[in-house]
Amino acid sequence: MAQQPLPTPTTFPTPEDLKDLQGELGFPKRAEDFVFFTIQDVAGFKQALKQLQPLITSTADVQAARKQIDDHKKCNAPGLLKIVGTNIAFSAKGLTKLGVTESLGDADFAAGQLADAQNLGDTGTTDSSGNFVPDWLPQFKSAIDGILLIAGDSILTVEEQRNKVELVLGKTINAVLTVNGLVRPGKEKGHEHFGFLDGVSLPGIQTLTGLLPGQQAVDPGVLVLGQNGDTVTRPAWAKNGSFLAYRQLNQLVPEFNKFLNDNPLDLPGLTRPEGSELLGARLVGRWKSGAPIDITPLKDDPALGADPQRRNNFDFSDATDQSRCPFSAHIRKTNPRTDLPQAAVAPHQIMRQGIAFGPEVTLLEAAAGKTAPGVNRGLAFVCYQSAINQGFSFLQHTWANNINFPPKPTLANPTEEIGFDPIIGQNGGDKAGRVTIGQNPNAQSTPMTLPVEWVVSKGGEYFFSPPISALTGKLAA
Ligand code: HEM
Repeated sequence: MAQQPLPTPTTFPTPEDLKDLQGELGFPKRAEDFVFFTIQDVAGFKQALKQLQPLITSTADVQAARKQIDDHKKCNAPGLLKIVGTNIAFSAKGLTKLGVTESLGDADFAAGQLADAQNLGDTGTTDSSGNFVPDWLPQFKSAIDGILLIAGDSILTVEEQRNKVELVLGKTINAVLTVNGLVRPGKEKGHEHFGFLDGVSLPGIQTLTGLLPGQQAVDPGVLVLGQNGDTVTRPAWAKNGSFLAYRQLNQLVPEFNKFLNDNPLDLPGLTRPEGSELLGARLVGRWKSGAPIDITPLKDDPALGADPQRRNNFDFSDATDQSRCPFSAHIRKTNPRTDLPQAAVAPHQIMRQGIAFGPEVTLLEAAAGKTAPGVNRGLAFVCYQSAINQGFSFLQHTWANNINFPPKPTLANPTEEIGFDPIIGQNGGDKAGRVTIGQNPNAQSTPMTLPVEWVVSKGGEYFFSPPISALTGKLAA
């Protein structure tokens, strides 16, 4: 079928958009299951999709759930509200199985993540035919047709919902892998496994949520297909869809902590543990509390980290010097703010919705500085965008792995390298190691060699999260 150009909408979101857009973007959750599946019976699956549709959570549902939670908190009601949300998305292979063969206008999605693995810098080997084979979980190297995302206030709620969903889909699908995401316990709630508060800086769509001070504004079309700012022509039915990049990222937490303990930054007035804490903050660009080092460079400020009105209100405008924040810090590599003109940053914004998986570090692992054999812990990384090669893949390949990014023509030595993003930058497992610059504020040109990649890719896939209308329409036809 020929692609029809979409009319340019004047406002986003309309009430219809809110009901059509799946709601994982912003769903409040304590636990989340990711079920990766293949479609076994196409005709049966299409029938089942129609029954599944009422269980799928829209953005309007998320807004209602958030309001309920606010009201619950305002009246100091005890416990957590029972909240559950379900979303579904399809790989290119899955869409093809369903008979959807027209292009969605995204080459990375169409080719799948396996084809992108080498470009992303994942480690792997070359087989006898010269093909790159990444060191991924076998499931991500075989066909995956779709993903179910089931999130809720507790493991129990998520399990209940998963049973309901599996009852509807029955034998029409085969679950090839389930990842159980879980928010970390106690004071670590909302912190990823290295200990840093996550989900702090997300782009905002003025007309959807308003903007907090310092928050990056984006056109809706940067995240949602067919909306203002989406520059690609899409099939009409795909409007209000979004591309979902999933990454299974193991984190070597004891190894990361050992590196910080062994290499404290030696600055006047800092104890050894404070020097280690500062190094960690400079690798990320924020303290564990979420406070940005661009605002508070030498000492954590938990009140700042907890304050949405202040914690994103910075711009790296001190562009010639790394005393406050290294150019290579994770948050500077992935969102360089005023290091680049605004028009060069906005198209690369992504909406991250990941969650931690795996057990807490044991005392034995902490003492050994080594992850125990067979233990997998890390981040089930999820992000949404309207173009994968502008969003996730671009950030990983062109910014995080690029030792010359961000460009610094203002430096005394403008050809000086910036180095890898020390958290996620990767070089295909090159034994020479990864080098990052600017970590020591008093010796900003001194390179620091990082011993291992602390974030290890175990694979993933690119999915299309369709508009809810397509579940009973295009995809079920
Ligand atoms: C295990 C892997 C990762 C860890 C531990 C991690 C950790 C963090 C932390 C602690 C923050 C700061 C808090 C926040 O703003 O939410 C952050 C921000 C961010 N991360 Fe990651 N991240 C990981 C993977 C990735 C990947 C794979 C990408 C994209 C390729 C990415 C892109 C971003 C972006 C865009 C931001 C926001 C930057 C800003 O606007 O200030 N992260 N990450």
